[in-house]
Amino acid sequence: MINIAIDGPSGSGKSTVANVLAEKLGYIHVDTGALYRAVGLFVKRSGIAPDDESAVVSLLSDIDLRLVFEDGEQKVMLNGENVNGLIRTAEISAFASRVSAIPAVRSFLLDLQREIARTNNIIMDGRDIGTVILPDATVKFFMTASDEARAERRFAELAAKGEKTTPEEVRAAMEKRDRQDSTRAVAPAVPAEDAIFIDNSGPFDQTLEKILSIIKEKTK
Ligand code: DC
Repeated sequence: MINIAIDGPSGSGKSTVANVLAEKLGYIHVDTGALYRAVGLFVKRSGIAPDDESAVVSLLSDIDLRLVFEDGEQKVMLNGENVNGLIRTAEISAFASRVSAIPAVRSFLLDLQREIARTNNIIMDGRDIGTVILPDATVKFFMTASDEARAERRFAELAAKGEKTTPEEVRAAMEKRDRQDSTRAVAPAVPAEDAIFIDNSGPFDQTLEKILSIIKEKTK
């Protein structure tokens, strides 16, 4: 199976790039952030603080999480409910980042991610795909973009969904989340040693062409 890993911070554009790449190559795009978001949603619904580690851990046995792929779209099924429309808010972003620092949450999601990669050609995006989930991935990318470009993207995404926020708020929340994600003790969001760095501050088409040509070279 061909496994392409794309890691990077929020707003770097990895999910958008991964989506188009998957369509062009006929692979499945696995957005692993959605799994942490679904756990965050469950924790929020349960009324538990996302950094109350023992309470979060005791909830995990009540969670049945599955990914379903239909017409190239990933659906996150949380105890049988499609939660795609509920997990992209600023509040759930913060919950996801908090719960993702808990080692038991990460190991809870590990097999699900590895199993999809074992049985499909995939582009998987996240924070620890190249370092932890798929250390033997066919190609590993680490995607970045300038702080301005990333904050603008996140703001546009949230504004399009009708969330009341400001570019400054988005930037501050993004920086906080990046700090949490990259400094946590377990599986911090850092590049794998053999990752190829991609700067996605510029035009989307340029990034896409660059990644596509690298994948073609590595898989021929
Ligand atoms: O990619 P995203 O913004 O949807 O991810 C939401 C949160 O989940 C992010 O703050 C960190 C966490 N995450 C992670 O720890 N590991 C991953 N592979 C993907 C996401």
